[in-house]
Amino acid sequence: MNNDLSNYRQSYEKHELLESNVPENPMELFIKWFHEVDALFAGETNAMTVSTIGLDGFPKSRVVLLKKYTYEGFIFYTNYDSLKGKAIASNPNVCLSFFWQGAERQIIIKGPAEKIAENLSDGYFESRPRGSQLGAVVSNQSDIVESREFLEEKLKNLEKEFEGREIPRPKNWGGYIVKPLEMEFWQGRPNRLHDRINYKLQEDYNWIITRLSP
Ligand SMILES: Cc1cc2nc3c(=O)[nH]c(=O)nc-3n(C[C@H](O)[C@H](O)[C@H](O)COP(=O)(O)O)c2cc1C
Repeated sequence: MNNDLSNYRQSYEKHELLESNVPENPMELFIKWFHEVDALFAGETNAMTVSTIGLDGFPKSRVVLLKKYTYEGFIFYTNYDSLKGKAIASNPNVCLSFFWQGAERQIIIKGPAEKIAENLSDGYFESRPRGSQLGAVVSNQSDIVESREFLEEKLKNLEKEFEGREIPRPKNWGGYIVKPLEMEFWQGRPNRLHDRINYKLQEDYNWIITRLSP
């Protein structure tokens, strides 16, 4: 088994990111990159890593799916009582990151997360397939569970209980919106001289654009 990865490297040559070409608002660049990547590469373009600061003081990262983005921020759905939900309740500052390997791009977003309005969570919950709705009801996300059988049994019982009826959204399941304060766009370049363009929101709501050393 070869466990030495020191020669495991890639030269990044596909694109460039220059100050002269970037929009004033980072959401416009996010939208451009998202669409470019989504059109060219198979896979979950909307999969992003969400990092939170846990109650134990450690950061924790996990992948979730971005379900909507607007000029206001980035929305994902989860269980409010999960580890990430508890972390956000104690410290709303989170970090989102995307790695789009096909385009040699990374985006890192910092900002506070807040719960979205209940009617928006209701609307999204209603749009989900029934199996996903039941899954959300079944799972006390992040709690220790005695076995897989326990979950499957619970699912079977709920299927019976809700037969022919709408499944209401569990009150502890819903969306967060992350409103960006800082967004860094990373474009891989040859010779490790990558482009890093950072946007930082000012008090007057203008974005300051700087280049960071790779
Ligand atoms: C591709 C992918 C997509 C996922 N999407 C979600 C999601 O949208 N919401 C969610 O709560 N968990 C999602 N998960 C599961 C999370 O990574 C994580 O296991 C779960 O949210 C519990 O995290 P926590 O215990 O740190 O709160 C996804 C995992 C993967 C690999």
